Amino acid sequence: MRHLLATRDLSRDEAIELLDIAEDMAAVQEREVKKLPTLRGKTVVNLFFEDSTRTRISFEAAAKRLSADVINFSAKGSSVSKGESLKDTAQTLQAMGADGVVVRHPSSGAPLVLATSGWIDAGVVNAGDGTHEHPTQALLDAFTMRRRLHGAASRGRDLDGVRIVIVGDILHSRVARSNVWLLDTLGADVTLVAPPTLLPVDPSGWPARIGYDLDAALAPAPDVVMMLRVQAERMHAAFFPNSREYSRTWGLDDARFDRLPPTTMVMHPGPMNRGLEIAARAADSPQSTVREQVANGVSVRMAALYLLLSGERGDA
Ligand code: NCD
Repeated sequence: MRHLLATRDLSRDEAIELLDIAEDMAAVQEREVKKLPTLRGKTVVNLFFEDSTRTRISFEAAAKRLSADVINFSAKGSSVSKGESLKDTAQTLQAMGADGVVVRHPSSGAPLVLATSGWIDAGVVNAGDGTHEHPTQALLDAFTMRRRLHGAASRGRDLDGVRIVIVGDILHSRVARSNVWLLDTLGADVTLVAPPTLLPVDPSGWPARIGYDLDAALAPAPDVVMMLRVQAERMHAAFFPNSREYSRTWGLDDARFDRLPPTTMVMHPGPMNRGLEIAARAADSPQSTVREQVANGVSVRMAALYLLLSGERGDA
Protein backbone atom coordinates (compact mmCIF):
# COMPACT_ATOMS: atom_id res chain seq x y z
CA MET A 1 0.00 0.00 0.00
CA ARG A 2 1.49 3.36 -0.98
CA HIS A 3 -1.27 5.75 0.07
CA LEU A 4 -4.52 5.42 2.01
CA LEU A 5 -6.96 7.74 0.28
CA ALA A 6 -10.35 6.03 0.33
CA THR A 7 -11.98 2.84 1.57
CA ARG A 8 -13.68 2.54 -1.79
CA ASP A 9 -10.43 1.24 -3.30
CA LEU A 10 -9.63 -1.22 -0.48
CA SER A 11 -10.05 -4.92 -1.17
CA ARG A 12 -11.45 -7.24 1.50
CA ASP A 13 -8.01 -8.76 2.05
CA GLU A 14 -6.32 -5.38 2.37
CA ALA A 15 -8.93 -4.20 4.86
CA ILE A 16 -8.65 -7.36 6.96
CA GLU A 17 -4.84 -7.21 6.89
CA LEU A 18 -5.00 -3.65 8.22
CA LEU A 19 -7.51 -4.58 10.94
CA ASP A 20 -5.36 -7.55 11.98
CA ILE A 21 -2.23 -5.39 12.22
CA ALA A 22 -4.31 -2.96 14.31
CA GLU A 23 -4.99 -5.89 16.69
CA ASP A 24 -1.22 -6.28 17.12
CA MET A 25 -0.90 -2.54 17.70
CA ALA A 26 -3.70 -2.67 20.28
CA ALA A 27 -1.76 -5.34 22.14
CA VAL A 28 1.21 -2.94 22.26
CA GLN A 29 -1.08 -0.26 23.77
CA GLU A 30 -1.74 -2.57 26.71
CA ARG A 31 1.95 -2.83 27.61
CA GLU A 32 3.63 -0.55 30.09
CA VAL A 33 5.95 0.76 27.36
CA LYS A 34 3.57 1.60 24.50
CA LYS A 35 6.26 2.25 21.93
CA LEU A 36 7.70 0.34 18.95
CA PRO A 37 10.91 1.32 17.12
CA THR A 38 9.38 0.59 13.69
CA LEU A 39 9.40 4.11 12.19
CA ARG A 40 12.55 5.43 13.86
CA GLY A 41 14.16 8.05 11.62
CA LYS A 42 10.97 8.63 9.59
CA THR A 43 9.14 11.94 9.59
CA VAL A 44 5.35 12.17 9.60
CA VAL A 45 3.70 15.53 8.96
CA ASN A 46 0.15 16.12 10.14
CA LEU A 47 -1.21 18.65 7.66
CA PHE A 48 -4.54 19.95 8.94
CA PHE A 49 -6.41 22.55 6.92
CA GLU A 50 -9.60 21.94 8.92
CA ASP A 51 -10.33 21.74 12.64
CA SER A 52 -9.94 18.43 14.41
CA THR A 53 -9.51 17.11 17.93
CA ARG A 54 -9.61 13.31 17.87
CA THR A 55 -8.20 12.63 14.45
CA ARG A 56 -5.21 14.95 14.82
CA ILE A 57 -4.13 13.82 18.28
CA SER A 58 -4.80 10.21 17.33
CA PHE A 59 -2.46 10.39 14.31
CA GLU A 60 0.11 12.18 16.45
CA ALA A 61 -0.05 9.49 19.15
CA ALA A 62 0.09 6.74 16.50
CA ALA A 63 3.18 8.17 14.79
CA LYS A 64 4.94 8.77 18.12
CA ARG A 65 4.21 5.26 19.36
CA LEU A 66 5.93 3.98 16.21
CA SER A 67 8.93 6.25 17.07
CA ALA A 68 8.52 8.54 14.05
CA ASP A 69 9.36 12.24 14.29
CA VAL A 70 6.11 14.20 14.09
CA ILE A 71 5.56 17.68 12.73
CA ASN A 72 2.14 19.21 13.32
CA PHE A 73 0.99 21.79 10.84
CA SER A 74 -2.32 23.55 11.04
CA ALA A 75 -3.43 26.01 8.41
CA LYS A 76 -4.50 28.53 11.05
CA GLY A 77 -1.43 30.52 11.99
CA SER A 78 0.56 29.30 8.95
CA SER A 79 1.36 30.92 5.62
CA VAL A 80 -1.79 29.30 4.21
CA SER A 81 -3.67 32.19 5.80
CA LYS A 82 -1.39 34.44 3.73
CA GLY A 83 -2.66 32.69 0.60
CA GLU A 84 0.04 30.06 0.10
CA SER A 85 -1.12 27.30 -2.23
CA LEU A 86 -1.33 23.57 -1.53
CA LYS A 87 1.49 23.10 -4.05
CA ASP A 88 3.88 25.45 -2.25
CA THR A 89 2.97 23.97 1.12
CA ALA A 90 3.62 20.49 -0.30
CA GLN A 91 7.00 21.54 -1.71
CA THR A 92 7.98 22.84 1.72
CA LEU A 93 7.17 19.42 3.20
CA GLN A 94 9.17 17.73 0.47
CA ALA A 95 12.16 19.95 1.22
CA MET A 96 11.90 18.93 4.88
CA GLY A 97 12.04 15.26 3.95
CA ALA A 98 8.57 14.16 5.00
CA ASP A 99 8.10 10.37 4.63
CA GLY A 100 4.42 10.44 5.44
CA VAL A 101 1.80 13.17 5.16
CA VAL A 102 -1.52 12.92 6.98
CA VAL A 103 -3.85 15.44 5.41
CA ARG A 104 -7.23 16.86 6.33
CA HIS A 105 -8.66 19.38 3.89
CA PRO A 106 -12.03 21.06 3.29
CA SER A 107 -11.87 20.20 -0.43
CA SER A 108 -12.82 16.71 -1.57
CA GLY A 109 -9.91 15.27 -3.54
CA ALA A 110 -7.06 17.30 -1.98
CA PRO A 111 -5.26 14.15 -0.65
CA LEU A 112 -5.49 12.55 -4.12
CA VAL A 113 -3.88 15.66 -5.61
CA LEU A 114 -1.05 15.45 -3.06
CA ALA A 115 -0.55 11.75 -3.75
CA THR A 116 -0.54 12.00 -7.54
CA SER A 117 0.83 15.47 -8.34
CA GLY A 118 4.50 14.55 -8.09
CA TRP A 119 5.04 17.47 -5.64
CA ILE A 120 6.00 15.07 -2.85
CA ASP A 121 7.36 11.54 -2.53
CA ALA A 122 5.69 10.90 0.82
CA GLY A 123 2.97 8.36 1.49
CA VAL A 124 -0.34 10.18 1.88
CA VAL A 125 -3.07 9.32 4.38
CA ASN A 126 -6.44 10.98 3.96
CA ALA A 127 -7.63 12.21 7.37
CA GLY A 128 -10.89 13.57 5.94
CA ASP A 129 -11.38 15.49 2.68
CA GLY A 130 -14.46 17.67 2.35
CA THR A 131 -17.55 15.50 2.11
CA HIS A 132 -15.67 12.72 0.29
CA GLU A 133 -13.91 10.15 2.53
CA HIS A 134 -12.36 9.58 5.94
CA PRO A 135 -10.91 6.08 5.57
CA THR A 136 -9.20 5.68 8.95
CA GLN A 137 -12.46 6.59 10.70
CA ALA A 138 -14.32 3.81 8.86
CA LEU A 139 -11.49 1.36 9.59
CA LEU A 140 -11.58 2.18 13.31
CA ASP A 141 -15.36 1.83 13.27
CA ALA A 142 -15.09 -1.61 11.63
CA PHE A 143 -12.34 -2.56 14.09
CA THR A 144 -14.56 -1.52 17.01
CA MET A 145 -17.52 -3.54 15.70
CA ARG A 146 -15.38 -6.62 15.09
CA ARG A 147 -13.86 -6.46 18.59
CA ARG A 148 -17.23 -6.00 20.32
CA LEU A 149 -18.74 -8.86 18.33
CA HIS A 150 -15.87 -11.36 18.33
CA GLY A 151 -13.46 -10.26 21.09
CA ALA A 152 -10.21 -12.19 21.05
CA ALA A 153 -11.43 -14.24 18.05
CA SER A 154 -11.59 -11.14 15.79
CA ARG A 155 -8.45 -11.77 13.75
CA GLY A 156 -9.05 -12.66 10.13
CA ARG A 157 -12.79 -12.03 10.35
CA ASP A 158 -15.01 -9.74 8.32
CA LEU A 159 -18.45 -8.33 9.25
CA ASP A 160 -20.52 -10.78 7.25
CA GLY A 161 -24.24 -10.30 7.89
CA VAL A 162 -23.79 -7.61 10.57
CA ARG A 163 -26.76 -5.22 10.36
CA ILE A 164 -25.82 -1.55 10.64
CA VAL A 165 -28.08 1.51 10.58
CA ILE A 166 -26.30 4.83 9.87
CA VAL A 167 -28.42 7.83 10.82
CA GLY A 168 -28.40 11.55 10.13
CA ASP A 169 -26.45 14.00 8.03
CA ILE A 170 -25.37 11.55 5.32
CA LEU A 171 -25.16 14.33 2.72
CA HIS A 172 -22.20 16.08 4.36
CA SER A 173 -20.61 13.03 5.94
CA ARG A 174 -17.30 11.66 4.74
CA VAL A 175 -17.58 9.22 7.66
CA ALA A 176 -20.78 7.77 6.16
CA ARG A 177 -19.24 7.47 2.69
CA SER A 178 -16.12 5.69 3.93
CA ASN A 179 -18.23 3.42 6.11
CA VAL A 180 -20.68 2.47 3.36
CA TRP A 181 -17.88 1.27 1.05
CA LEU A 182 -15.85 -0.50 3.70
CA LEU A 183 -18.81 -2.16 5.42
CA ASP A 184 -20.08 -3.44 2.09
CA THR A 185 -16.61 -4.84 1.27
CA LEU A 186 -16.63 -6.59 4.66
CA GLY A 187 -20.02 -8.19 4.00
CA ALA A 188 -22.20 -6.08 6.32
CA ASP A 189 -25.75 -5.04 5.59
CA VAL A 190 -26.09 -1.24 5.73
CA THR A 191 -29.20 0.94 5.94
CA LEU A 192 -28.95 4.73 5.74
CA VAL A 193 -31.67 6.72 7.49
CA ALA A 194 -31.99 10.48 7.08
CA PRO A 195 -34.37 13.24 6.14
CA PRO A 196 -34.55 13.38 2.32
CA THR A 197 -32.80 16.78 2.41
CA LEU A 198 -29.75 15.23 4.09
CA LEU A 199 -29.30 12.34 1.67
CA PRO A 200 -27.14 12.63 -1.45
CA VAL A 201 -29.06 13.57 -4.59
CA ASP A 202 -28.68 10.10 -6.11
CA PRO A 203 -27.65 7.40 -3.65
CA SER A 204 -28.71 4.61 -6.04
CA GLY A 205 -25.09 3.63 -6.72
CA TRP A 206 -24.36 3.18 -3.03
CA PRO A 207 -24.29 -0.36 -1.66
CA ALA A 208 -26.86 0.44 1.05
CA ARG A 209 -30.59 0.50 1.66
CA ILE A 210 -32.20 3.91 2.15
CA GLY A 211 -34.88 4.65 4.74
CA TYR A 212 -36.68 7.74 5.98
CA ASP A 213 -38.26 6.32 9.13
CA LEU A 214 -35.86 5.88 12.05
CA ASP A 215 -38.30 3.91 14.21
CA ALA A 216 -38.94 1.45 11.38
CA ALA A 217 -35.19 1.01 10.84
CA LEU A 218 -34.56 0.40 14.54
CA ALA A 219 -37.53 -1.95 15.09
CA PRO A 220 -35.71 -5.11 13.89
CA ALA A 221 -32.98 -4.37 16.49
CA PRO A 222 -29.88 -3.86 14.32
CA ASP A 223 -26.46 -4.94 15.60
CA VAL A 224 -25.16 -1.38 15.30
CA VAL A 225 -26.69 2.09 15.18
CA MET A 226 -24.23 4.77 14.09
CA MET A 227 -25.32 8.35 14.72
CA LEU A 228 -23.74 11.13 12.64
CA ARG A 229 -23.11 14.70 13.66
CA VAL A 230 -25.34 17.37 12.17
CA GLN A 231 -22.62 19.29 10.29
CA ALA A 232 -23.97 22.79 10.70
CA GLU A 233 -20.73 24.33 9.36
CA ARG A 234 -21.39 22.73 5.96
CA MET A 235 -25.05 23.77 5.82
CA HIS A 236 -25.57 26.97 3.90
CA ALA A 237 -29.32 26.54 3.69
CA ALA A 238 -32.11 25.19 5.92
CA PHE A 239 -32.07 21.38 5.74
CA PHE A 240 -34.61 20.77 8.52
CA PRO A 241 -37.12 22.97 10.38
CA ASN A 242 -35.34 23.31 13.74
CA SER A 243 -33.25 21.33 16.18
CA ARG A 244 -36.20 20.18 18.30
CA GLU A 245 -37.86 18.76 15.20
CA TYR A 246 -34.60 17.11 14.16
CA SER A 247 -34.01 15.34 17.45
CA ARG A 248 -37.63 14.23 17.70
CA THR A 249 -37.59 12.69 14.22
CA TRP A 250 -33.96 11.68 13.63
CA GLY A 251 -32.29 11.67 17.03
CA LEU A 252 -31.40 8.75 19.26
CA ASP A 253 -33.39 10.17 22.15
CA ASP A 254 -34.14 8.42 25.46
CA ALA A 255 -37.33 6.74 24.23
CA ARG A 256 -35.68 5.26 21.13
CA PHE A 257 -32.62 4.24 23.08
CA ASP A 258 -34.78 2.46 25.69
CA ARG A 259 -36.46 0.40 22.96
CA LEU A 260 -33.12 -0.95 21.71
CA PRO A 261 -31.96 -4.28 23.10
CA PRO A 262 -28.81 -4.06 25.25
CA THR A 263 -26.87 -5.89 22.52
CA THR A 264 -27.19 -3.07 19.96
CA MET A 265 -23.99 -1.04 19.78
CA VAL A 266 -24.36 2.74 19.75
CA MET A 267 -21.61 4.47 17.75
CA HIS A 268 -20.72 8.10 17.01
CA PRO A 269 -17.50 9.37 15.38
CA GLY A 270 -17.47 12.55 17.49
CA PRO A 271 -17.71 15.41 18.00
CA MET A 272 -21.23 14.81 19.37
CA ASN A 273 -24.03 17.34 19.54
CA ARG A 274 -25.53 15.98 22.75
CA GLY A 275 -29.28 16.45 22.81
CA LEU A 276 -29.46 16.91 19.04
CA GLU A 277 -28.56 13.69 17.21
CA ILE A 278 -27.84 11.71 20.37
CA ALA A 279 -29.10 11.92 23.96
CA ALA A 280 -26.60 11.86 26.82
CA ARG A 281 -28.09 8.61 28.16
CA ALA A 282 -27.35 6.77 24.91
CA ALA A 283 -23.91 8.37 24.50
CA ASP A 284 -22.78 7.45 28.02
CA SER A 285 -24.36 3.99 28.22
CA PRO A 286 -22.39 0.72 28.28
CA GLN A 287 -23.76 0.11 24.76
CA SER A 288 -21.97 3.22 23.53
CA THR A 289 -18.59 2.62 21.86
CA VAL A 290 -17.67 6.31 21.64
CA ARG A 291 -14.61 6.10 23.88
CA GLU A 292 -13.55 2.71 22.48
CA GLN A 293 -13.68 4.26 19.00
CA VAL A 294 -11.19 6.91 20.12
CA ALA A 295 -8.84 4.37 21.73
CA ASN A 296 -9.08 2.05 18.72
CA GLY A 297 -8.33 4.97 16.42
CA VAL A 298 -4.74 5.04 17.65
CA SER A 299 -4.24 1.31 16.93
CA VAL A 300 -5.80 1.57 13.47
CA ARG A 301 -3.70 4.64 12.56
CA MET A 302 -0.56 2.89 13.80
CA ALA A 303 -1.43 0.02 11.46
CA ALA A 304 -1.97 2.40 8.54
CA LEU A 305 1.30 4.29 9.11
CA TYR A 306 3.13 1.01 9.55
CA LEU A 307 1.79 -0.38 6.26
CA LEU A 308 2.61 2.81 4.37
CA LEU A 309 5.94 3.79 5.86
CA SER A 310 7.86 0.77 7.13
CA GLY A 311 10.40 -0.43 4.58
CA GLU A 312 11.68 1.71 1.76
CA ARG A 313 9.34 4.13 0.01
CA GLY A 314 8.32 2.83 -3.37
CA ASP A 315 8.05 -0.80 -2.24
CA ALA A 316 4.74 -2.54 -2.89
C1 NCD B 1 -15.66 13.45 11.72
C2 NCD B 1 -15.03 14.28 10.64
O1 NCD B 1 -14.29 15.22 10.91
O2 NCD B 1 -15.28 13.93 9.51
N1 NCD B 1 -15.06 13.49 12.95
C3 NCD B 1 -13.97 12.72 13.20
O3 NCD B 1 -13.04 12.64 12.41
N2 NCD B 1 -13.97 12.01 14.34
C4 NCD B 1 -17.10 13.61 11.79
C5 NCD B 1 -17.66 14.97 12.08
O4 NCD B 1 -16.97 15.98 12.10
O5 NCD B 1 -18.87 15.00 12.29
